[in-house]
Amino acid sequence: MKHQLIITIMTLQREVLEKLIRIGIALSSEKNIDKLLENIVDQAMELTGADGGSIYVKEDNSLSFKILKNKVLNKKFKGKDLKSIFPIHKIPINYHSMAGYAALKGDILNFKSREEARASGFSFDERIEKALQYVTQSTLTIPLKTRNEEVVGVLQLINPRENGKIVAFKAEHESVMKYLASQAAIAIQNARLIKEIKEVQLHAIYTLSSAAEFRDKITGDHIKRISQTSYLIARKLGLDEDESELILYASPMHDIGKIAIPDRILFKPARLTENEWRVMQKHTIYGAQIIGETPYPLFQYAKNIALYHHERFDGKGYPEGLKGKKIPLEARIVAIADVFDALVTSRPYKKAWSIESAIEYIAEERGHHFDPEIANIFLDNIKLVKEIYRKIT
Ligand code: C2E
Ligand code: SIN
Ligand code: SIN
Ligand code: FE
Repeated sequence: MKHQLIITIMTLQREVLEKLIRIGIALSSEKNIDKLLENIVDQAMELTGADGGSIYVKEDNSLSFKILKNKVLNKKFKGKDLKSIFPIHKIPINYHSMAGYAALKGDILNFKSREEARASGFSFDERIEKALQYVTQSTLTIPLKTRNEEVVGVLQLINPRENGKIVAFKAEHESVMKYLASQAAIAIQNARLIKEIKEVQLHAIYTLSSAAEFRDKITGDHIKRISQTSYLIARKLGLDEDESELILYASPMHDIGKIAIPDRILFKPARLTENEWRVMQKHTIYGAQIIGETPYPLFQYAKNIALYHHERFDGKGYPEGLKGKKIPLEARIVAIADVFDALVTSRPYKKAWSIESAIEYIAEERGHHFDPEIANIFLDNIKLVKEIYRKIT
């Protein structure tokens, strides 16, 4: 295996080799999976001189089209997204298609003409060729295999040209593409693992946060609504995806300090006495103590949110009475999502308000309780907020 790779690399031209190294670096630093797959197709087309390239990713036992590129068709359908013109989006994994075969067998297929492919038992999808008015001649179909030989997708290249004429893919193209395909497979696998870790993390945060708050009533819906509303506000404020995601993940922990508030206060079906209210306000400080000092941005956000989500823009909030932009942005965002949710849900001490009354409250409190700029963003996007509330009830 190792020898084969060395020999392969030695036979490559220096120029190609340098290109491959650059691609490897670009791929390993690309977190966004769609962009990454697009890069792979671009590079593969450039290295082989192919007209077109596509990537299918294996998803629940079929192959889904992820990327579809074609220089000739791009000119023909100026500006249109080729994927939207394409009549199919999924193909079954079986021996009828070249992509299906590559996915099942894990072998590369290299056909210099459609006749040759037909002779080997592969059919061409008439619907596609009709829709696009483009004839596929030579094809190179490569499985995307991870280190442990799992096929995670297929890369397909079509119609390489030399001096404008369609030619066959060369054997040397196969080795180059094999290398590129292994990079692509590892990257796809990494992206999947990261996605899974994030999902597990978010699930753990939702579950533990709601357990802390309600102890016995761990539906988590209330926490999910606040989390998604906070994320929505963050995005609409113009924060980037990473920062907004931190707010999505950190906001569920805003009331984690309530775990230290005695039941008789937390569940009191009436107004709190002055003493009880003093204790209750401490849930902000307890929350910050529970989260503590960490080097992780996620938990630094969570700490700020736990500590400052009851500060008010006019400086009359608690625990510190911070005013205006002195209150961390993430806490100013969650303050709106938290109050809105508290208003429209019933509590041991209060009935639920109508959504319209809650919206009115947010509007009235611009510049008083809430940062007016953020409150306006919330109100401008109220349709999307309502959608969150329709979905999570
Ligand atoms: P929570 O129930 O999650 O409410 C969060 C915030 O929503 C409140 O923060 C308040 O800003 C807003 N909010 C909720 N209900 C109303 C309402 O009926 N009218 C208005 N104008 N705002 C409302 P706040 O006031 O700092 O309270 C923090 C937490 O203290 C509350 O969280 C709740 O757990 C507890 N709490 C507050 N008041 C009472 C009460 O009278 N009785 C009991 N048992 N708990 C209370
Ligand atoms: C209180 O002041 O006793 C409770 C605070 C509130 O309900 O807003
Ligand atoms: C904003 O509110 O978008 C500006 C950033 C900040 O207030 O810290
Ligand atoms: Fe709170």
